[in-house]
Amino acid sequence: MKYEDMIASIEAVIDRDAGIVANLSNISAIIKYSMERVNWAGFYLRRGEELILGPFAGKVACVRIPLGKGVCGTAAAENQIRLVPDVEAFPGHIACDAASRSELVIPLRDRAGNPMGVLDLDSDIPDRFHEEEVSALVRVAELAQELLQAGTYGF
Ligand code: SME
Repeated sequence: MKYEDMIASIEAVIDRDAGIVANLSNISAIIKYSMERVNWAGFYLRRGEELILGPFAGKVACVRIPLGKGVCGTAAAENQIRLVPDVEAFPGHIACDAASRSELVIPLRDRAGNPMGVLDLDSDIPDRFHEEEVSALVRVAELAQELLQAGTYGF
């Protein structure tokens, strides 16, 4: 599989005792610098009815996204993967980086299956993400989800 090396690098850097900030930061950096034409990769973590910006690699981003708003808030509210080939055609898309043209958002779930955040990838070209990317990023999201479920927020 095309993204086997990326997933292996992520597994190799995860330090389960180091907490969520260190691990999600490294995961974001590995995604952004392993994948071509990805201009933003990172996490939003749920607090009540909002998503709050978490560790990421890319340009400055919106700090708060209400559940149900934008691609991220919709994926979290519906607890479903959102693959948007053309963000300009997605009603309510939140343009954090004007360069973003396509987007892939994968929900992260708590042990009960409820959304506790999202993994978000943006590309500066339309139609960047396909089935291959979805299956690789679902595996990455599962690794992140395990860390979040272990409850080691903060440092
Ligand atoms: N475009 C996203 C907002 C987050 S940024 O892309 C980092 C959205 O519509 O949810």
